[in-house]
Amino acid sequence: MCGIVGAVAQRNIVSVLIEGLRRLEYRGYDSCGVAVLGENGPVRARSVARVADLDAQVHEGPLKGRTGIAHTRWATHGAPVTDNAHPIFSKDTVALVHNGIIENYESLREMLRGKGYRFVSQTDTEVIAHLIHSVYRGDLFTAVREAITQLHGAYAIAVLHKDQPNTVVGARQGSPLVVGLGDGENFLASDALALAGSTERFIFLEEGDVCELSLDGVRIADRDGNDAQREVRQVAAYGGAVELGPYRHFMQKEIFEQPRAITDTIPQTESFDTSIFGEGAADAFAQIDSLLILACGTSYYSGLTAKYWLESIAKIPTQVEIASEYRYRESVPNPKSLVVVISQSGETADTLAALKHAQSLGHKHTLAVCNVGTSAMVRQTELSFLTHAGREIGVASTKAFTTQLVALFVLAATLAKLRGHLSDEQESGYLKQLRHLPAALNSVLALEPQIIAWSEEFSRKEHALFLGRGMHYPIALEGALKLKEISYIHAEAYPAGELKHGPLALVTEAMPVVTVAPNDALLEKLKSNIQEVRARGGQLYVFADADTKIVNDEGLHVIRMPEHYGLLSPILHVVPLQLLAYHTACARGTDVDKPRNLAKSVTVE
Ligand code: M6R
Repeated sequence: MCGIVGAVAQRNIVSVLIEGLRRLEYRGYDSCGVAVLGENGPVRARSVARVADLDAQVHEGPLKGRTGIAHTRWATHGAPVTDNAHPIFSKDTVALVHNGIIENYESLREMLRGKGYRFVSQTDTEVIAHLIHSVYRGDLFTAVREAITQLHGAYAIAVLHKDQPNTVVGARQGSPLVVGLGDGENFLASDALALAGSTERFIFLEEGDVCELSLDGVRIADRDGNDAQREVRQVAAYGGAVELGPYRHFMQKEIFEQPRAITDTIPQTESFDTSIFGEGAADAFAQIDSLLILACGTSYYSGLTAKYWLESIAKIPTQVEIASEYRYRESVPNPKSLVVVISQSGETADTLAALKHAQSLGHKHTLAVCNVGTSAMVRQTELSFLTHAGREIGVASTKAFTTQLVALFVLAATLAKLRGHLSDEQESGYLKQLRHLPAALNSVLALEPQIIAWSEEFSRKEHALFLGRGMHYPIALEGALKLKEISYIHAEAYPAGELKHGPLALVTEAMPVVTVAPNDALLEKLKSNIQEVRARGGQLYVFADADTKIVNDEGLHVIRMPEHYGLLSPILHVVPLQLLAYHTACARGTDVDKPRNLAKSVTVE
């Protein structure tokens, strides 16, 4: 989604800004731009193509400067056209980039029009630039602080003013912003990753903070205008370029990285110890009587899967909610419920807002399952479990999902032990199974050639139905999400028992029905559901465990999974669905790693 980079230095910083944008590219964007302070005010270059095109423009220009801001935009208000690309100017004096959404932009626009400001874009951002211009009285820092008091919504901004060389002012509310500290130069970005290579010293700004970057320092004011001292954190240069290696796309690479990612995520402990979740976990876990899981998209599906584990192994009531729904509905809070937020990025706006909402309702104990240790979510929860998937570049989440499942299984086993529901034998059995997972995954990945053969068939379809039962129903949901997001084939998932309550009406020869069929307690029920589809001429594509006795037949295509993996089976069964979506998308020629309209990290509501 949108990305911000800013810099103040004694050298030309255009290459730093462009490199920062490059590092943020994988998050998804549809236009980009850069502005520097020239002798007569801000000058800019903007592109509705890729950052590479912007780079070519700035070289040709050439665009040079020692104070600058840059942006990748994912359109919300106004189409992805040059006029709407940031940096947005006000009267050729103020230049501004913005992540987030200003909810009261219409009334502000009317007010500013009344003051003689002319709007040249359809963005909500333009009101911020004009607002800052309208209140500027010789000090940009003060003007920004004054202007943001009139904004409703979420924002992270970086601003330049013609009359203030060597100054970039930033502010955040609801969208992340981080300061990077250099020697005689300072930086600003929406993600520390953008500045890897320039610095390893960061200040993660807090909600309501306004900062001013100059050559020799950074000044920060909190939301009340008081000087704020924020911790400087050393973050290793983790932003090195990620190589594609022998793979065609990052998504394929990330699917194949899952055995390694899972190995790195499984705790090294010899038992399911509360310390895995942080220092206060023993106390917190002892006080809870239920779980409330909040997440979006794929992370929500990992939460849905975990509910089965948490209730069956740990016997703890678990509620799973889509974060964007939870934050706006009236719920009945239970302060004894542990709030678990799940997120690859740790920056998803809806999940962050849901967390804050839960905290405001009195939920005391919070845990983040997250892939980014420096993220807002990890900083805002009491406890955390970091998945070690490594950087996930493909918009379609794969290794983040399976490592989240590992984390959540460990949570279920840890709570089960604490609550007296896990025998020593079960504990060592689960640990053994977890450690064998990477090898089991490698056998599943070896099914790729068979899945490629199916994907040819799928690439000619416009609809698909996914079925699963029990803890494999969320896996069917995840399979359908993967297929729709990267191949643009309409896909829906149902618990197989629901088939005859409606979706069976859709089944014809033209509708492939993908079925997740592990050899578990629900297998016989699932076989009956398979027959219901066959009887109506549907084409079944079944991922069955080796010993299910489901065999290839007319209208029944079967890929055999190497082994049945008990409670951890969802972690294996999702992998062929990832591969099916991936190869179907390749066959259709879509932009697999950057599917249309989507962004990697959804930092706006
Ligand atoms: O970073 P998060 O895990 O919080 O992201 C949540 C969703 O936006 C994300 O899982 C999305 O659904 C993926 N594109 C799915 O592949």
